[in-house]
Parts: sequence; structure tokens; C-alpha cells
Amino acid sequence: MATRRILVTSALPYANGPLHLGHMVEQIQTDIWVRFQKLRGHECHYVCASDAHGTPIMLKAEQEGISPEALIERVQAAHRADSGGFLVGFDNFHTTHSPENRHYTELFYERLLAAGYIARRPIQQAYDPVKNLFLPDRYIKGGCPRCSAADQYGDSCEACGATYGPTDLKNPVSVLSGATPVTRESEHFFFRLGAFEQMLREWTAGASVQPEIANKLNEWFEQGLQDWDISRDAPYFGFEIPREPGKYFYVWLEAPIGYMASAQDYCNRTGLSFDDFWKVDSSAELHHFIGKDIAYFHTLFWPAMLHGAGYRRPTAVHCHGFLTVNGQKMSKSRGTFVMARTYLEHLDPEYFRYYIAGKLGPAVEDIDLNLEDFVLRVNADLVGKVVNIASRCAGFIGKRFEGRLGGADAALVAELSAAADAVAAHYEQREYAKAMRVVMGLADRANQYIDQEKPWQLAKDPAQESRVQAVCSTGIELFRILMTYLKPVLPAMAIRAEAFLQTTLTWGGLSAPLGAHTVANFTPLMNRVDMDKVNAMIEASKSNTVPAAVAAPAAVPASPALPIAPEISIDDFAKIDLRVARVAAAAHVEGADKLIQLTLDLGDGERNVFAGIKSAYAPEALVGRLVVVVANLAPRKMRFGVSQGMVLAAGPGGKEIFLLEPDSGAQPGMQVK
Ligand code: 2FM
Ligand code: ZN
Repeated sequence: MATRRILVTSALPYANGPLHLGHMVEQIQTDIWVRFQKLRGHECHYVCASDAHGTPIMLKAEQEGISPEALIERVQAAHRADSGGFLVGFDNFHTTHSPENRHYTELFYERLLAAGYIARRPIQQAYDPVKNLFLPDRYIKGGCPRCSAADQYGDSCEACGATYGPTDLKNPVSVLSGATPVTRESEHFFFRLGAFEQMLREWTAGASVQPEIANKLNEWFEQGLQDWDISRDAPYFGFEIPREPGKYFYVWLEAPIGYMASAQDYCNRTGLSFDDFWKVDSSAELHHFIGKDIAYFHTLFWPAMLHGAGYRRPTAVHCHGFLTVNGQKMSKSRGTFVMARTYLEHLDPEYFRYYIAGKLGPAVEDIDLNLEDFVLRVNADLVGKVVNIASRCAGFIGKRFEGRLGGADAALVAELSAAADAVAAHYEQREYAKAMRVVMGLADRANQYIDQEKPWQLAKDPAQESRVQAVCSTGIELFRILMTYLKPVLPAMAIRAEAFLQTTLTWGGLSAPLGAHTVANFTPLMNRVDMDKVNAMIEASKSNTVPAAVAAPAAVPASPALPIAPEISIDDFAKIDLRVARVAAAAHVEGADKLIQLTLDLGDGERNVFAGIKSAYAPEALVGRLVVVVANLAPRKMRFGVSQGMVLAAGPGGKEIFLLEPDSGAQPGMQVK
């Protein structure tokens, strides 16, 4: 199998509010695909960023009385923590408010301008004479020109579904000041999308988009591709257009360029070649995962911009539908508009990852989180089927054979590993629901085997000792295969399974049974979901009007002179996997006086770790530094996020907390012995 080079993105979340479960569906869908590719041995990189510009962010910051920079920094830190909490393993999470994004945005503009793809002409627009700014459609309300319903937005009517322009509204008012907007003229810049029609038709035909989206594209082609307004007037939080004072690039022009900016920042850190991924004849793959609402931007504007500026086009744009809860649109009053943070405060992220995987397919369909089904499914499948296999067998192997495996049923083990290609094909096609069904069918098969063989009865007969070992070893071999299949969906549980199995789960290892191998003591791998916790999450979501970007952290106890802890063996110590990591990003944790939130690069992806080292380091001073981390520490849910490891430091505290020397020559991922 030739190694593929793959760059993957999910949509850049706006840095003006918290992530909710809808965002997490997309990031988890992407993350599963990325983890699957990595597990198969491909070179796959997952980059994302904050979408940090635009009018709503400017106004939100003004409302809060802070600078837009302060707002986007705070929200970015919260987004990192939330995504990390759901075990989304970005290789890089950057921001569109960055020098890299400015560079590429200006470069695109200059190239498109030079090639004649930018037009300019005056347009009439609604202007707020009190706030002194041009009003985006959503900031104007008034009566629907068709059905006269009051209080409708400037782009469409929620009562009758009509779409129109803000100047069509009856008695329009500015949402910002209540003033009646006036019409003002201003010169705008336009991207001449129509010039790319032929190219876009060919690109669409190249199977890069789902059939539903291809149909939509054909409709759009038939309607004719209109020029796209890519400029906004000051005041605007964004990048000013070169040589055009007071004119800014529209946020949607530079948001997808943010994918490149994040990739550039990532390449700067890792030494990867940016051009390898973005040049016109690149052999690398470029996959964008997005919601269906932003397909137009990603399947028309974005490939056209890339092509016009001399870059490669996406290999594929994968659109997903929206998340509904209990069959309805997420709703604040029903408590079903659940923020990512609220979920994490109540439930294990892997429950959601598994449930969503069980629902996701390649079609552009909405998916439903039915809360009762959620509890039943997770408990039945993960706890009742998968974990059960290991827990039914591990006790006998541990107590009677000192953890030694032997005599497993090779035919049955081969039967389960023979599904590898089918499972892989499903993951590759984003048929996660099908993959989960295959895996759970195999888990049923494994449980039937144990039911038939009844090791608990065999164990009563001393003559059956080796049979007990064989049956339980078979069960554990089967569990290893199932957990390998599930590793992209359940990365934290896979780490716990690896600690038990004393092996790393790899796709290549599927066909290599453990054989005569010693496993560790079995500790519970996953607890049952408790409906009370789900209800508590819903209750919390009802009162969660404006969720704090970062929840207040638990107090961190000061460290008194501690007595030496109970002795551990060298084997206990050897279980600790110490790795060198590079600090990719560091941020204050709002309200915590000791903690810093670190994004660590361990050479195989990013992790979110909270470290109590604030007394000695400012976050800015940590970026780029090397630290030693306990890489196999089970993720811990803290009040303000999940910590996926622990940073080691030495010293008495205060200003004296010592990390690795900056120039030690160590590399991320290197094991510390
Ligand atoms: O719709 C959104 O939430 C946008 N912030 C997505 C941007 S994706 C990309 F184009 F940057
Ligand atoms: Zn109407």
C-alpha cells in the first residue's frame, strides 16, 4: 500500500462564541477520518484555525468593552480546550488573524487582480447613521416585503421563507442602534466567479463532491455564477486591502485562505514543505470537511480562488448535515442547545464520539442525537459488548496464568481480522455507521464464543486449565482486534486497552496475534452512561444563556513538603511513557492563578494539557519550548477541560520551576529513558 500524503481541514469556527455539539459532530467526523488514515500508516495532517475577522466579532468585542484581539484570543483558547476535550487531535490550530493569513490573502488578491479577476464598482448599501457603519443584512430588521410579518431579518423571512435584499424591508431599522438605515453608495471589489465556470464544471465532474452537492452545483451553474462582493468598508476587523485605504477584505474571502495559513504555520514548525501540499501539480490530497450551509463557499469560490491564484484545487469537499436533538432543531429553551463545554462537564467525550460515528454516513443528511437511544446504544455496544469481552476473560488470565496468553483459537481470531479491509473501506468512504455495524457484529460473534465456551464453568474443572487459558486468550485476541477497529473513534479507550494489552494497536498488527504474550492487570475501560447525567446536562443547558468561554477552574492545592509516596517497582515505573513535546501554543486559563493551558506537539498530533506552571512562565514565553510529558496518562477531566497528559517540571515552585533546556536538541515524540 503506497503511503498517501493527506492534508485535512474542518471548518474554521468563528471566534465569537463557544463551540456546541453541532461543531463537535464535524470535528469528530474529521478527526475519525484523520486518525484512521494515520492508523493505516498514511501521512495525514489535520489543520484548523479560528475564523477571527468580521463585523460580528468587532461588535461583540465592543459590547464586552475589550479589543477584538483580546476576544479572539480568549475564544481561541476555549475552542482549543473544547476540541481537545472531545479528543479532536488537530495537528495545528491557528488563527486567520495571523501574519501567514495576511500574506496569503494579499498574495491571492494581487494574483487575481493581475489576472483580471477582480472588478470594482459602486454599490448602494444600508448604512447606520448613528453607529456610522454599513450594515450587513443580518443587522437590519423590518417587515417582510411579501407577507408583511414584522421583525424579519434583512435577507430572508422566517414566516414565509421569502428571500430578498435589506432595502426591500418595510420600515427597516438597524439592530444595532434602532435608527432607520439610510442608503449610501460605496465602491466595492468583486471576484469574477463567472470566469471560472468551465473549470468548476470540470472539477465538479471529477468526483470531488457528493452527488447531492454536484446536483446543487449544476443548479447554481444553470442560474449563472454571479460576481462575488469581496470587500467591506471601514470600520471592519480584518485585513485592509493593499493600496485601498478604508477597504477591507470580506471575512469569507480570507477564511478559507486560513486553511493555508494554518498549514504554513504548521510547516514552519515541522519543516514540512508547504508547496508539496499546495502547488498546482501536487500529488498530495487536500480534503475539506464542512457543513452543508457553507458548500457554496467551498465548492465554487474556494476552488476558483485557488485556481485563479495558481494553487491546486481540493481533492474533495465532504459536506455533512446538521445535528438535531430528539428529532428537533437544537433549542435553548428545551436545553438541547448543548455547548461542548457543558457536555464535557457531565459526560465522557467518547460516548458522543461513538454515538455520532454510529450515525454518520457519506450523505449530506442531518443526524439526530436521541438522548434515550444515546444511553442505550453506548451502554449496549461499548460497555455491554466490547468491554465485556475483555472483562469476562481478563480475570482468569490475570489470576490463573499471571497474565500469560496462550492457545488462542487461530481460526476465530483470523475470522475477525479478515474484516479489516471491509472496515477500512467503510472508514475511507466516511461510512462510519457501516463500520460500527460490522464491528458490533464481530463483537457479538466474540461474545457468543465466550457464552458457548463458558470459561467460568471450565474453570471449576482442574483438568480444563489449558482450555480456560485458550478460551480467555481467544477472547482477549478478539478484543484487541475490535479495539484496533475502534481506535479512530475511541482514542482514549484505545490507550487504556493498549496499557492492558501491553501492545500498540496498529492496522498492520491486526493480522499478527499476540500469541504467547503477557497482559497487564485489567482495569475498567469505560463506565456505563447514566441517564441522570444526561438529564443534568440538559438542565444545565437550559440555564446556560451565555456560556462562559472558559469555565472557572478548580482550585489547585499548594504543594506542602510531601512525604515520599509508597514504593513502586521498576515495572510500575516502566509503564510511564515519557516523551519530549514542543509547546505549540500556550494560553491563560481564565480565573486560574496557577494553570496554563498548553497545546503540545508530540510529533504525532496535538494534545491539550493543563500545567500548574504559571508562577514561573508567561504563556508567550513557553511557545516553541520543549517539555517532558507523561504521554500515556489517561485523559483526566478537569473542571475547565480534559488534560491529555502531564508536563514534568522540577523545582521548589514560585519562579523556580524548571523545564527542559530550550536548545537541548531533543525532538517532539522522542522517548525519554
Ligand atoms: O460558517 C462558519 O462557521 C465559518 N466560520 C466557517 C469558515 S470555514 C473556512 F472557510 F474558513
Ligand atoms: Zn414573509
